[in-house]
Amino acid sequence: MDVFRIEGPVRLAGHVDINGSKNASLPIMAAALLAPGNSTLLGVPRLADISVFKELIDQLGCKVERREDGVLTIDATKIDNPVGPYDIVRKMRASVCILGPLLARCGRVEVSMPGGCAIGDRPIDLHLIGLRQLGAQIHLKNGYVIAETPQGLKGASIFLGGPYGSTVLGTANVLMAATLAKGRTIIESAACEPEITDLANCLNVMGARISGIGSPRLVIDGVNHLHPVQYRVIPDRIEAGTFMAAAAITGGEVHIGHCRLEDMMAVVDRLRIIGIAVEANGDGCTVAGAESFQPADITTQPYPGFPTDLQAQFMALLALAHGNSIVVEKVFPDRFLHVAELNRMAANLRKEGSAVIVAGVKKLVAAPVMASDLRASAALVIAGLAAEGATIVNRVYHIDRGYERIEERFNLLGAKISREEGGTV
Ligand code: UD1
Repeated sequence: MDVFRIEGPVRLAGHVDINGSKNASLPIMAAALLAPGNSTLLGVPRLADISVFKELIDQLGCKVERREDGVLTIDATKIDNPVGPYDIVRKMRASVCILGPLLARCGRVEVSMPGGCAIGDRPIDLHLIGLRQLGAQIHLKNGYVIAETPQGLKGASIFLGGPYGSTVLGTANVLMAATLAKGRTIIESAACEPEITDLANCLNVMGARISGIGSPRLVIDGVNHLHPVQYRVIPDRIEAGTFMAAAAITGGEVHIGHCRLEDMMAVVDRLRIIGIAVEANGDGCTVAGAESFQPADITTQPYPGFPTDLQAQFMALLALAHGNSIVVEKVFPDRFLHVAELNRMAANLRKEGSAVIVAGVKKLVAAPVMASDLRASAALVIAGLAAEGATIVNRVYHIDRGYERIEERFNLLGAKISREEGGTV
């Protein structure tokens, strides 16, 4: 099992290009299953999660080919095994987004029920409520969700709000199924995340009739069939935000290319409050850190609020602010496994329910730490860049799930990170 050895502190400087979005690529790969034939997706990042999804689609009976340059082709001419097996779903819960498209295309689908994960319980009740309202019959057997449409799917008015707002993949599932349902579907309290907008835009290129894109009210007029597509996915706003936090914490100056600032207004707003300069230029922006920076309160929320997927990275940044901050998690209230690890690096963080009080400290100190999930591990790397000494981040496979060659890209900006074998299991 690989570990990262991070020598700090460093100051990052230079240019980095952001890759295509992981969270847009996954549902768009699932959307390709709606149309028999060959679809081509451009800008798909080379990540472990994408490989898992490729494996899932391959075993449905489709053929997926992935080139080094981010081009991914999916031949969905035939689907002879509409099943999402436990062995794949347990590796990546986003596998659940084959439910909607396979139900619509094949009339039956079996997907292993995803379990909990490091960031919380993560139920899929809203996905199932939405699909049932489209006419699916759904039952649970041996840990599998079995969904069938004996009479075909029929448009309906569906409310997808839950206790923590809407659901991103739940919206993706219901949206994809509704494109082939008879009549009109209205999804109220739909997720507005840019990745859902990207999915809806891609579906429209495939021949779907979706309006209200980007709003919490999606209107879908069902069509009889969709056609294959060539489509480029949007850049990854979470990867961009991670590089922004890293530039800021190291007092560096980094030009971030291929980055859509318009999708990141809440993040840019918080950076400016903290005292970090963010200037739009070219196809991205320049982020310039300061000698010392200010505290800021952050509350994660569904889009356009501050993204939960950047909560951990920004907590690492605030750990060095000149004063106290409060970070409130309103999407995944238990997503705080990084708190104890950051405290091992001499941060001063205190968890209170679904909030963390961050008392800024003058410096972070290197320590061996344990990555627990994808974004928490990014936070530990960011802290390691600023900490004095050699930080060892164990279990870096978490970070490989969502960041492509992150150590090489940080090193090109002046970081000193080496990937080494070994570490704590
Ligand atoms: C997606 C993202 C993940 C991000 C999250 C929130 C992908 C592959 N993953 O996950 O990176 O952190 O959005 O922006 O795109 N909920 C329910 N019932 C449901 C579904 C969700 O109660 O049926 C709750 C969840 O437990 C959570 C909240 O709703 O508290 C939001 O979850 P959701 O938007 O569904 O997250 P994912 O789509 O799984």
